[in-house]
Amino acid sequence: MKIAVAGTGYVGLVTGTCLAKIGHTVFCVDKEASKIAQLRRGESPIYEPGLEAEIVEAKDAGRLHFTTDYAVAYRQAEVIMIGVATPENTDGSANLQALYQVCEQIATSITSPTLVVVKSTVPIGTNDRLAAYFDQLLGDSRKSWVEVASNPEFLSQGTALRDTLQAERIVIGTESQEAADILTEIYTPFDQPILKMNRRSAEMVKYASNDFLALKISFVNDIANLCEAVGADIDEVTSGMGADSRIGSRFLAPGIGYGGSCFPKDTKALHWLAEEAGYTLKTIRAAIDVNEKQRFKLMQAARKDIPLFAGKKIAVLGATFKPGTDDLREAPSIPNLQMLLNEGADVHVYDPVGLPNLENVFGSRLHYGESVASVLQGADACFIFTEWAVFKEMDLALFHTMREPRVYDGRNCFSVKAAEQAGLQYYSIGRARVGGAVFA
Ligand code: UGA
Repeated sequence: MKIAVAGTGYVGLVTGTCLAKIGHTVFCVDKEASKIAQLRRGESPIYEPGLEAEIVEAKDAGRLHFTTDYAVAYRQAEVIMIGVATPENTDGSANLQALYQVCEQIATSITSPTLVVVKSTVPIGTNDRLAAYFDQLLGDSRKSWVEVASNPEFLSQGTALRDTLQAERIVIGTESQEAADILTEIYTPFDQPILKMNRRSAEMVKYASNDFLALKISFVNDIANLCEAVGADIDEVTSGMGADSRIGSRFLAPGIGYGGSCFPKDTKALHWLAEEAGYTLKTIRAAIDVNEKQRFKLMQAARKDIPLFAGKKIAVLGATFKPGTDDLREAPSIPNLQMLLNEGADVHVYDPVGLPNLENVFGSRLHYGESVASVLQGADACFIFTEWAVFKEMDLALFHTMREPRVYDGRNCFSVKAAEQAGLQYYSIGRARVGGAVFA
């Protein structure tokens, strides 16, 4: 099938590449000429393990094309998928400007009936509104030319290819059997369970899934904080909870809160949408509030030991919102780095892939290290914000190159026992402190 994909961010690019991999002819469209030029050279503009190789393979096979010329791409396509960003407005609602712009471009480009599939995360009712908008844009002569379907995306950054090629479910929200049949045909080669429902339900599946996972993380962080106060160990607690298959062990890792371009935005968007509808989602409100506070857990603990950060050398390991990505959007590291700098600390950061993006945010205010060892040397304290494998596997003796081996670990990279054996002063989330005397 001939498919156009609008937007070459995580959703659009991974979807387009995977659809080309299974045999469809795909035209990826983006308004950013530099991105398209990069993709035409076979380079991925985003850091995503394995993606570049798949782009090159599908491109060389003649099935994956990149263009800024939306009119040509949309005119040729039997199906147009939209994967543009729907960022957060200042009031927490979703900003649909890019989505509406693409719809206007589609309406001016198509010369025959077309199925438009919305993969972007959009508030419930958006697909219905888009269907009406298309009718208005297309006028009487082309009325009903566009059928709109909702097909939310569930891929995670860092595992995007696997999540798409081996998805646990494909959700199709349509109001027409014909649209459902076309989407079923597109996805059949993936051999994954396809769930068909109406458009509003499909839109809600996406928000409810992300918000449930965010809630699960905030819940476990709440329990971790209580574990610290009452002397329980969150690792032991989550191993006991996760063994119950009704709960499950995934997304039970405590830490300094969830970040990224999805959970923070989608929790706020659903909460906002519910308020607009006259209903308060108390559970989601609580998840958001817990997450806001959780981001500052390490600083709170560190302040008891280091009342003034001014002039102190602070080592920071990890900046991205999670391992496996160079993305810093809503990363808990950012407000913490900001605070350390505001208080006059001399901050040295190492992250395996996130430093170029970090430099775009902080410029010369931070020192960017080439290795774990280079930032730890002579530091007064070390903060860990991301659980990269290279940190989890490091030789803990390296912390003894610091002025004091004082480690604040926001992602529980080491076991309490290992920290004890290595002679560290160690604070982690929801577990016993090591070298307790230092922590007043
Ligand atoms: C998330 C969802 O997991 C995807 O299913 C969804 O498709 C995607 O959003 C989206 O809407 O596009 P992603 O934002 O890439 O994917 O990252 P996650 O792996 O879900 O992690 C989000 C945040 O939660 C990270 O900051 C991570 O460190 C944190 N987290 C995750 C925890 O603190 N504890 C956990 O146990 C798991």
